[in-house]
Amino acid sequence: MRELGRRSLGTRTLPLRNVAPVLPGAAQVVGVDPSPVMRRMAVRRCAGAVAAGRVDVRSGRATDTGAPGGSFDHVVSVNNVLFWGDIAGGIAELHRVLRDGGRAVVAFHSGTGPSRRARRVGLPEDVAVRLHVAMAAVFGDATRHDLTHLVAFSAVRGAR
Ligand SMILES: C[S@@+](CC[C@H](N)C(=O)[O-])C[C@H]1O[C@@H](n2cnc3c(N)ncnc32)[C@H](O)[C@@H]1O
Repeated sequence: MRELGRRSLGTRTLPLRNVAPVLPGAAQVVGVDPSPVMRRMAVRRCAGAVAAGRVDVRSGRATDTGAPGGSFDHVVSVNNVLFWGDIAGGIAELHRVLRDGGRAVVAFHSGTGPSRRARRVGLPEDVAVRLHVAMAAVFGDATRHDLTHLVAFSAVRGAR
């Protein structure tokens, strides 16, 4: 995460746990969330970086981020793919906003040793498979990472 590049997009900002760790390596981080409540929480949590112009929290959805094409070095989604409504549409949007060589990471509670909570609210395997297939179809390839507490899928734009 600390290798994240100059401009990163997070499609979920709730406590900004996926954004705050990348701040040291990123010149600018944009967080997108449709919920005004969650956006307010995110702005409070990263108040210093927001004031410095390094974090921008915007209204948007995974399927419609409102960002220009090719404008991000990295895109990260944590624990929100189940809310997208349209997985293929969300993946197409992440691909669209990435520059060539940019990487997308989509992660969700799950993993090889999930917590009790993750077992309750974790990513159903059929959704994980659909997500992997959609990502591989749009990006040309996608890698599944089964970690202890989460499952993540990563893909690089233009890697085919
Ligand atoms: C379960 S919460 C995320 C929890 C947080 N990621 C964590 O790990 O603690 C899901 C988040 O996704 C946001 N969300 C809902 N629909 C979305 C969409 N279509 N695109 C992007 N984010 C969405 C919600 O507003 C909420 O902030």
